[in-house]
Order: sequence, then structure tokens, then C-alpha cells
Amino acid sequence: MKVALVTSSMPLAPWQHGIARAFSEAGLAAEVVPWEGRQPRSAIGARYALVWLPPAELFEVEHDLEVVFNLGAGVDRLLANAVVPERLPIVRLVDAGMAPRMAEYVCFAIARATRGLERFGPGGLRDWNASRPRGKPPTVGVLGAGAIGSKIAEAAAMFNYPVRVWSRTSRAFASMESFAGLEQLDVFLAGSNFLVNALPLTRDTENLLDRARLSKLPEGAHVINVGRGATIVDADLLALLDDGHLGGATLDVFRVEPLPDDDPYWSHPKVIVTPHLSGPTPVAPAATQIADAIVQLERGVPVSSLPGYVDRARGY
Ligand code: GLV
Repeated sequence: MKVALVTSSMPLAPWQHGIARAFSEAGLAAEVVPWEGRQPRSAIGARYALVWLPPAELFEVEHDLEVVFNLGAGVDRLLANAVVPERLPIVRLVDAGMAPRMAEYVCFAIARATRGLERFGPGGLRDWNASRPRGKPPTVGVLGAGAIGSKIAEAAAMFNYPVRVWSRTSRAFASMESFAGLEQLDVFLAGSNFLVNALPLTRDTENLLDRARLSKLPEGAHVINVGRGATIVDADLLALLDDGHLGGATLDVFRVEPLPDDDPYWSHPKVIVTPHLSGPTPVAPAATQIADAIVQLERGVPVSSLPGYVDRARGY
């Protein structure tokens, strides 16, 4: 069996080794063929493609493909580019080690803001009596209750923050307040001192956080975006930071990436920009998840029952 590997901007070698290793551990006799940069561009006869932002040519040439595995959690760009023929099912990664990393990033961003950590460091405070903020813990509101959002919510709860979660459809969390559907979004926002976006980007979530919605956040709220940039209307977020309603923003994802040099976020005094690093895909667990899924498929399990099966109508 042949498997095509397309990593585009992600480094090829660790993926090639990681996938080969996971396949051999899972007892899969498969040859992993890096697809990019091959000459001539003829079909290798791959049945599975493991891809990150693949070229359309892959699908024009490889006619034996049965399933496409996305080497990341988000499939928004894969679907937006419409390169994957409709007939081909797509499976994305579910957590695969990304969720704890993202939860760590979010909790650090919260701690940095609530404890005033930005006061310290070279050129900063050298004061043993510096204030130690001890007010009422802020409420953390997490948008998204999938593998990533729920891990972020659990991590924040572990640090004793009151946590609330909003999802598109209803979900019950025993230990935290849950909100569901657009009709409950405003009331969810009104009680979120930290708003964490962990939603996938779909038709429903694009521009979801506009001026009207962001204005519902309490005075001084802080927005953390680890989902996708296009869920937030940037001009609206900037306006609310400028007029003092919002206290700050920690942004890891952007509508255009890399964030253009002249983007106002770079120099905004209330904004921290990080270069889409909150949840890099860890190769080993991701490779194991894919190998396990292929084992299931080879046993005849329907692709639609795999965790991470992408419902194209839903957009994730
Ligand atoms: C990263 O952004 C991913 O989608 O995995």
C-alpha cells in the first residue's frame, strides 16, 4: 500500500519518520512517499494522502485515493481551496497532543494578564513589594467545546477560574456552566472576563465576533484567539481596545498569515501577537492517530465513524 505525504510548510523529515514509525508499530505495511518535489509528476498510486495545504495537482494525478488525512485540526483552508474532490472523505486530527499545548498557552496568557507579569523582565520592575493582584478570579469563557475547547476549559478550571463554555449545539459539562446556540451567545459573553476563541472557522463562525458581540463582554475583558483569525472582525476588536471597553488581546491566529508587517496589531499597546504557535502538531501522537485510523479503515470500519471525520456541510 502506498501513502502520499504532503507537508508543504511543515518540515518533511520528522513527518516522514514519524509516520513510518507509527505505521510499523500499528503493523501496517505501507510505503510513505513524499509527494512534493517529485519528478516526473506521475501517480504513485496512493490510497491514502496525508496532507497539510496540498496542491490541487495531487488530486488531479492520484486517482486511487480513498481518504485524505489532514495533518492538523483545522480544515478551513483545505475546504476553502476546494482542491479535494467532493467524493473524497477528509479526516482531521482530534487533539493529537495539540489541545494540552493550547490550554497551556491560554492559561499562561491569563496568568500574564491577571498577575501583571508584563511588569517584570529587563527594564521592568525590581520591586519586592510589587502588588500581587488578589481580586476575585475572572471568569474564563471558552468558545468551542470540542477536543481543544474542552481541554482549555478543564485547564482553566484546574486553576480555580470560574469557567463557562459556549458551543454551537448544546453540550452539558457537569462541572461548568454551558451555553449553546446563538440565542445564548450574548449572555455567555456578558459574563466572560477572558474570552477564549477555540472555534473552527466555518461559514457560521466567520466574523462571529463583531462589534455588537464583542461589546457584550464586560468592561476590561481580554480576548484570546487560538482558533482562527477570521472569527474576529479585526477593525471592531481594535476599535473596542482603543475606546477602552476591552482591556487587552492575546492573538495567535490571524485572517492573513503571516500577519502583514503593517498590521496595526503588531504595535498596539494592548495586543500581544504570537506567530500561530499555540498548538503545533506533535508528530508522534498525530502519526499514531492516523495509523490507528487506517488500521480501522483496512478492517472495513466506515470512514464516517472515525473521530475527526469531516462533515463538509458543517465545515469541520
Ligand atoms: C493549526 O492551526 C491546525 O489547524 O492544526
